[in-house]
Amino acid sequence: MKILVVGNGGREHAIVWKLKKDDPSAQVFCAPGNAGTAAIAENVAVPADDVAALVAWARENRPDFTVVGPEVPLCLGLVDELEAAGFAAFGPVRSAARIEGSKSFAKEVMAAAQVPTARARVVRSEAEARDAVSEFGVPVVLKADGLAAGKGVMVCLSQDDVETALRDLFSDNRFGAAASEVLVEEFLEGEEASILAFVDGETVVPLASAQDHKRLLDADEGPNTGGMGAYSPAPVVTDDMLAVVESQVLRPVVAELSRRGISYKGVLYAGLMLTATGPKVLEFNCRFGDPETQAILPRLATPLLPALQACRAGTLSPDLVAWDPRPAVCVVMVSGGYPGSYRKGIAVEGLDEAATLPDATVFHAGTAKRGGVVTTDGGRVFGVTALGETLKDAVAAAYRAVVKIKFDGAFYRSDIAWRALARKD
Ligand code: AMP
Ligand code: GLY
Repeated sequence: MKILVVGNGGREHAIVWKLKKDDPSAQVFCAPGNAGTAAIAENVAVPADDVAALVAWARENRPDFTVVGPEVPLCLGLVDELEAAGFAAFGPVRSAARIEGSKSFAKEVMAAAQVPTARARVVRSEAEARDAVSEFGVPVVLKADGLAAGKGVMVCLSQDDVETALRDLFSDNRFGAAASEVLVEEFLEGEEASILAFVDGETVVPLASAQDHKRLLDADEGPNTGGMGAYSPAPVVTDDMLAVVESQVLRPVVAELSRRGISYKGVLYAGLMLTATGPKVLEFNCRFGDPETQAILPRLATPLLPALQACRAGTLSPDLVAWDPRPAVCVVMVSGGYPGSYRKGIAVEGLDEAATLPDATVFHAGTAKRGGVVTTDGGRVFGVTALGETLKDAVAAAYRAVVKIKFDGAFYRSDIAWRALARKD
């Protein structure tokens, strides 16, 4: 079995790790990958968003299956192009990936499917935006319509924040074409949770729940990041709530897309705010979450590839997915300065020592190997994941490995899973 995984983050290392764990004889490639994927698979020096070069690689190397990790190649139509060239690929086609690629499209689909979400107005100018802000009142949330590498959402708690956001979006044009449309959205309060599901065009099979930690600092303070850690399951998501999300969010969206002639196949990720009046959708992603995947896949007791193949073939069923009951925690280690500017190329020490700890797995994200040495190569550098009999055990095991790993400027949150731990006490 020859498998290509597209991407270079912690999510892709976790996908490669799971595929190799399920089938050590599988020949796995990762484009472009990182130092972690290079250790267990073969890296391919093609960027994840170079659709033409990836299709050319496939024609030459003939993978049996391709798994596309990040949203950018999905929104560029990599799956469409691979399938058109005769290669089986996992992930939504371009028209389906718009559920993440355009927030106004996602809102329109949610409205048609009567999915609970924040009230919002789509605006095209600063004047229209001001009008909408005065309608909703402050706090309010402004969002660039298109993909903005996780930076296009501005939660404005004060009028000053609104002014900064308006400047970024309209005067400074910081987001380019991604902000030709802007969503002004009602501010929602509550705890957040991520529900990811496998979808085969029709059937929806939710994965184990997870919670991300978007803020940089302990106690959810500081700027938003790509995600500083995750754990699974999220005890705030009860079975009843999961059933509500499945019946009121996931199935209606898939059905509405299907009604529009769009067959959604892949992972559908609903970012939810659990409000006093029930779960409401903050956003959809058209892919596995990062770092949620690093906490979810170590708990997947069934092999990954058959589930991915069933999504593509339209033969998905719940018995393809079973879970290890033990919780998992992923602590993300980042470069000093992240999410602002940071240095790259800093040597990492202690990985061998961390690898000797039985319960922990170190997923690489922004790493590269230079002259036999692992160095930092991005903002999020590692996702250190551990399973435990209890959540507390899992947290302790993850941090036991984290403290072994050292690089200049390394930073991580010390309170991953605090909400779930507080709930239990
Ligand atoms: P998103 O990229 O849409 O998930 O937004 C990033 C973060 O902004 C979310 O994880 C929330 O913490 C916050 N956010 C987005 N939309 C809202 C909203 N309507 N109300 C409150 N917070 C929001
Ligand atoms: N963890 C958030 C995301 O994957 O977008």
